[in-house]
Amino acid sequence: MKSPATIGSSGGGAFGEAALRCEGVTKAFQGVHAVNGAGFDVPRGQVTALIGPNGAGKTTLVNILSGFMTCDRGREFIGATEVTNWPSHRIARMGLMRTFQLSRELGGLTVLENLLVAAKDQAGEVLWNIFLRPGMVRRQERDNIERALDLLETYGLYRLRDARASELSGGQKKLLEISRAVMAQPNILLLDEPMAGVNPALIDRIGGYILDLKRDGVTVLMVEHNLNVVERICDHVIVLAEGRTLAEGRLSGLRENEQVVKAYLGEVIDAGTVR
Ligand SMILES: Nc1ncnc2c1ncn2[C@@H]1O[C@H](COP(=O)(O)OP(=O)(O)OP(=O)(O)O)[C@@H](O)[C@H]1O
Ligand SMILES: [Mg+2]
Repeated sequence: MKSPATIGSSGGGAFGEAALRCEGVTKAFQGVHAVNGAGFDVPRGQVTALIGPNGAGKTTLVNILSGFMTCDRGREFIGATEVTNWPSHRIARMGLMRTFQLSRELGGLTVLENLLVAAKDQAGEVLWNIFLRPGMVRRQERDNIERALDLLETYGLYRLRDARASELSGGQKKLLEISRAVMAQPNILLLDEPMAGVNPALIDRIGGYILDLKRDGVTVLMVEHNLNVVERICDHVIVLAEGRTLAEGRLSGLRENEQVVKAYLGEVIDAGTVR
């Protein structure tokens, strides 16, 4: 077996060790391939964009990498650990969290409660602790509330902390989705179109939050159609077409790649976005 450190073109290269790596990932629905042999490295501590035409398999790949879906073939590594087809709660324990293309807030709960249920390793979840270590459980709950309120302040949702999540606007739901994922203190964050359908001012704000996460050492892989955003905040770009990795590199270089322009960039290069 090949060691993960030697798999992939950028392993151990300019970006150092990959935080996340996949190879030969394949998934078919009723015999039709949604992902067909995709493989790439996600460089540690960088912001990487996953771009490609509608239906290229980006969301399916995010679902597989985050353990929300299994793949038919292929392998996934978080650092040096193989995590192929691990369920999402085990992947989360490895420090990988994701957001959804269509926000999945818990509508009946308040904004604050949405963050609290996302908190990592809660002592109170273990019945034993509630009886034997009530002080510890209370202390952790207090810490979690404090952390959640801090995050809501950071993401501009503090005044909405007691509102039902279902009452939020589309943009506010996107912010809640990101802050919930951050509440779990991820090392790796997969964002599926975090800026889709939000206004230009909020696009800038979300871009700033993503750069702040990078500064804090979080590795980000984001599906994004807006090439202006990709150009501004992403260090590395992976192009997916028909379920395969078509090319990787900096956006400026990919603009010169004839195959990439033909498969995807051609339709968006002038508009800046396909949506
Ligand atoms: N659960 C499913 N059952 C059947 N087909 C599916 C399922 N999920 C995705 N597909 C199909 O797999 C292909 C890839 O879909 P996917 O949602 O991954 O693309 P995408 O790159 O995220 O597209 P978009 O940019 O529109 O979000 C599409 O043809 C889609 O119809
Ligand atoms: Mg998608």
